[in-house]
Amino acid sequence: MDLFDTPKSQGILKDVVLLRSFVAPTENEVLPALAAIIQLAPLRHIMTPGGFAMSVATTSCGDLGWVSDKTGYRYAAFDPLTGKAWPQMPASFKQLAKQAASMAGFANFEPDACLINRYQVGARMGLHQDKDERDFNQPIVSVSLGLPAVFQIGGFARSDKALKLPLVLVWGGESRLRFHGVLPVKAGNHPALGEYRVNLTFRKAG
Ligand code: SIN
Ligand code: FE2
Repeated sequence: MDLFDTPKSQGILKDVVLLRSFVAPTENEVLPALAAIIQLAPLRHIMTPGGFAMSVATTSCGDLGWVSDKTGYRYAAFDPLTGKAWPQMPASFKQLAKQAASMAGFANFEPDACLINRYQVGARMGLHQDKDERDFNQPIVSVSLGLPAVFQIGGFARSDKALKLPLVLVWGGESRLRFHGVLPVKAGNHPALGEYRVNLTFRKAG
């Protein structure tokens, strides 16, 4: 299957590229792989360092997973819930991330972490920067499935006005540290994912 039959890419801001039309064809491979990961590393509502449970349920796959507790956010090789290594990143995930990065102009992206965020209706993610990774020369590849949501991408200060986008988004280079977030997911029913939005965020973390 050619994931990129009719690629449409759109530059949004410098070093921010929106890719449409190749997520849907990959769902056949990605969704079963996702279900297998969730069996091994269940979705959970992690606590922010401030002591609040996130409205988004998360898990990870790859060499490193993103974790949070009272001491802060970081990447870890072991899932604190199971004590085991995170599930391997499936080949279909890696291929999707690498192709998206290369279509957006970031060659040789080798993700070692995939954060899986599952949004139930009403869940949201406040504006934040991704800055727990070691090398900010590596882009972020963000793939969204299921219910639609409004993704915001802002500037370099939290207070900068944010653009609102539907998304499959790659950002890096000069835009690597832009604030971004997700507005509360509205009720709906997606053929494959029901009442959920799922976002896969690929990063080279270590
Ligand atoms: C994130 O920034 O970690 C997730 C963004 C999204 O769910 O689209
Ligand atoms: Fe993020």
